[in-house]
Amino acid sequence: MIKKCLFPAAGYGTRFLPATKSMPKEMLPVVNKPLIQYGVEEAIEAGLSNMAIVTGRGKRAMEDHFDVSYELEHQIEGSDKELHLEGIRNIMESCTFSYTRQIEMKGLGHAILTGEPLIGDEAFAVVLADDLCLADEDDGDGDGVLAQMVKLYKQFRCSIVAVEEVPMEEVHKYGVIKGEMIRDDIFQVSEMVEKPATEDAPSNLAIIGRYILTPDIFDILRETTPGVGGEIQITDALMKQAKEGCVLGYKFKGKRFDCGSIAGFIDATNYCFKKFY
Ligand code: UTP
Repeated sequence: MIKKCLFPAAGYGTRFLPATKSMPKEMLPVVNKPLIQYGVEEAIEAGLSNMAIVTGRGKRAMEDHFDVSYELEHQIEGSDKELHLEGIRNIMESCTFSYTRQIEMKGLGHAILTGEPLIGDEAFAVVLADDLCLADEDDGDGDGVLAQMVKLYKQFRCSIVAVEEVPMEEVHKYGVIKGEMIRDDIFQVSEMVEKPATEDAPSNLAIIGRYILTPDIFDILRETTPGVGGEIQITDALMKQAKEGCVLGYKFKGKRFDCGSIAGFIDATNYCFKKFY
């Protein structure tokens, strides 16, 4: 079964400059918790226990976050303040963390390939922590997005991308799929275009930052030539998988906030503040 979750987190986060000049985007807090921690919690909820993080220069804060801070912990020992560390301590007890660095930023596909030594020859999940996904108790059975996808993988045993309907004027920001509907929320992908112009988009079903990938993706990525923007695109590799076998697009239940953009980040902050604090 799926045990490993890869977090490509090496990007520069230029939309958040100057905040991200010396701090990773994934450490930006939505209220009081960094984005990467929301992602790790979602992965744990889905039953995954090995977190594999692809980092880059200037990203050491993530490694420190998932580690003991002796001085701080000694200082607040026995006080009410310790309660604030309960969540992160539980995380550290329930999973392992491994890290590798992407030396050059050559795109998401390249970042995923960089994670291969941490994953090996098994199916794995991918979380882009700047897409914050939250379960919605009014929609579905309360499972997080990754938990829903892991369940689906048990049934179909192929790569799965999470998709969401977006307004046509926003398709240019995403990878977009076209596919045959095999259940009201599942599509068998037949076409996939990275960041299409509105008039070229095959649908308004946009891929968001949650994937389940079968390990043959690594060999495909190795042979994938750079596409849009000179980057190795995961969509190009997935399209090859779709042609040779099967890739599913899954319309997940729950809420997604694009925390890679300032507007999405503010929406997420307001939503989480009202809901959790
Ligand atoms: P984005 O393009 O949204 O992230 O990549 P970015 O480049 O950090 O942000 P901007 O556009 O400059 O503001 C999507 C995800 O893929 C990771 C990013 O860290 C992010 O989680 N990524 C992207 C890598 O790890 N390596 C890359 O070379 C590119």
